Amino acid sequence: EAFVPDTNSLKALREAAADCRGCPLHGPATQTVFGEGPRRARLMMVGEMPGDREDLAGHVFVGPAGRELDAALERAGIARSDAYVTNAVKHFKFRERGKRRIHDTPKKSEVDACLPWLREELRLVKPEVLLILGAVAGKALLGSSFRLTRSRGEPVESDLAPCVMATIHPAAILRAPDGEARQAEREAFVDDLQAVAARLDG
Ligand code: URA
Repeated sequence: EAFVPDTNSLKALREAAADCRGCPLHGPATQTVFGEGPRRARLMMVGEMPGDREDLAGHVFVGPAGRELDAALERAGIARSDAYVTNAVKHFKFRERGKRRIHDTPKKSEVDACLPWLREELRLVKPEVLLILGAVAGKALLGSSFRLTRSRGEPVESDLAPCVMATIHPAAILRAPDGEARQAEREAFVDDLQAVAARLDG
């Protein structure tokens, strides 16, 4: 909270976030990966935290999970460039395994420390539809009782936006045990995005 400036400028917010030291994750990470998209976006999507690629590039959802997201958005007829895309946590948390950096799930204290940034993004963008991608973002925004299995695909009761929906994190598609399961996850993800598209159209 102490690092969040009093501003109505998304650009000023993003610049301030680059220097955030509000939790230990800034240490090993390359850079802050802040949300991206139009200030007037009608759709905001919130993922978990940047991955290896995002940490290096400084942009959200540009790695393998981002490719799944892009493909599904295209099939659902949603232009990613019209959406504001961000994460619950804005620094990559990882464990080193040899030369590779492996995703490490952020702790509740780290998610909580980062939440003031997300709240400000929501306050400034004021999306009509807020789409939560996965359980970490769901718990961050809706509380620890949030269960993705219970809330998926249906509008969620919340005053965060006129319409709040939740679906899987696209990385879950990549973790499916085999090709068939992966394809089933993909189809279900597209179904959820189509429900979002219907909201935006209607
Ligand atoms: N996973 C996320 O949650 N966010 C990203 O930006 C990339 C992968």
